[in-house]
Amino acid sequence: MSVIADRCPGIQVTVVDLNQARIDAWNDPDLSKLPVYEPGLDAVVGRCRGRNLHFTTGVDAAIAAADMVFLSVNTPTKTKGVGAGQASDLRWIEASARQVAACAQGHTIVVEKSTLPVRTAETVKAILTAAQGEVAGAGAPKTFSVLSNPEFLAEGTAIPDLEAPDRVLIGGEDAASIDALASVYGQWVPQERILRTNLWSSELSKLTANAFLAQRISSINSIAALCEATGADVNEVAHAIGADTRIGSKFLKAGPGFGGSCFQKDILNLVYLCGHYGLHEVAAYWQSVVELNSWQQHRIAQLVVQKLFGTVTGKRIAVLGFAFKADTNDTREAPAIRICQDLLEEGAQLAIYDPKVPETQIASDLGCQPLPSPVGSPLSGEGVWHRVTTPAEAVAQADAVLILTEWASFADLNWQELAAQMRKPAWLFDARSIADLSAAQAAGLQVWRVGRG
Ligand code: UGA
Repeated sequence: MSVIADRCPGIQVTVVDLNQARIDAWNDPDLSKLPVYEPGLDAVVGRCRGRNLHFTTGVDAAIAAADMVFLSVNTPTKTKGVGAGQASDLRWIEASARQVAACAQGHTIVVEKSTLPVRTAETVKAILTAAQGEVAGAGAPKTFSVLSNPEFLAEGTAIPDLEAPDRVLIGGEDAASIDALASVYGQWVPQERILRTNLWSSELSKLTANAFLAQRISSINSIAALCEATGADVNEVAHAIGADTRIGSKFLKAGPGFGGSCFQKDILNLVYLCGHYGLHEVAAYWQSVVELNSWQQHRIAQLVVQKLFGTVTGKRIAVLGFAFKADTNDTREAPAIRICQDLLEEGAQLAIYDPKVPETQIASDLGCQPLPSPVGSPLSGEGVWHRVTTPAEAVAQADAVLILTEWASFADLNWQELAAQMRKPAWLFDARSIADLSAAQAAGLQVWRVGRG
């Protein structure tokens, strides 16, 4: 929405949320305190806020004034009830559709921005249609049109992704509404990149794009394991296959598995849909992409234990990176969570460093509170963790250092200095292929790198 405001000075954009603290943070004069860390976002908000970009908890008034409403609420995987563990929880979509139905005035175009199961637009439409023709306040009778406009930005590169998207997808049935939304994007996106489809194709395209992207990661991670077993190098294999233009070079980076709020959730959604339509083989096919991902994470934790003489109980392990990818403070489904939990289960003492993730977030993700350094007695069986503020602090007295996020600064670590602080024999486990391995080896560390045999 900030980028829309930036690129369309003639449009007033109002972002509403029920959470006062969240809205206050978006209005904080100190732009470094925005609730989301995203390179370049502070500059965009700084340019537009108060001009044509507003953040408020005045939800009803903003809906009443709007010509177009974007539903951008979260749709997490259901944790209980029918479809638990697979289907999306649509309670917030339904609640916001009801609120739009109640407060809208005149004609309102309602745009699904949240990633939704296919055919959700039908639910939204049914709720809005029930209010059609009513008159709110002094306004004209209500009419609605529903569009699907899924988002393809990736975190960490959100601003450039939005400023120059590969494509914008608009699904709908009403040509005039599609044109209205296309003309918003048309202010900075070339027309040929604005794709128009029917509603269901648009919704399904979003799930399919994420499933294909995630599938590439599981595919390359499966080959990484085979490379480690055979003496091949997954980076060389990725380079070689990526040179085939039919395959392409992007999204072939082996690592600790995909995290983030989208891939797993969207694939599980797809699996649920396929099951619902009786396509059990198709469901199993996509399910295996998620299973391979969890397997990769458990495999890395087990490998650390095995290299450290089969036990990490009471051993200190430095964990570098907790966010699910670089350039974000987001930890949703981060591979670090599962890997750290496995190591804690084995009794390890983790010193966790991430430049952007706060201790409270790590505590909530790991489901246990930090124990301040120096950590428990060496041979106590309890796994414990604490957050540190530099890589140097993390490696002090550690038996191993484990890189789980590809923060650029991890490429330039001074291994001579770090290794000197560690207990020998010490290991570097590089799950992101980012560290300078020869420097680490020269400093006396034993090294493992994902996908290197
Ligand atoms: C993903 C998609 O890339 C976006 O197109 C989509 O809009 C978004 O989900 C969404 O549905 O909202 P995002 O999850 O923000 O974006 O980040 P990605 O860059 O896709 O990375 C996802 C995970 O895959 C990260 O954990 C990353 O480290 C991992 N990854 C990515 C790899 O392990 N290897 C790769 O080659 C690429």
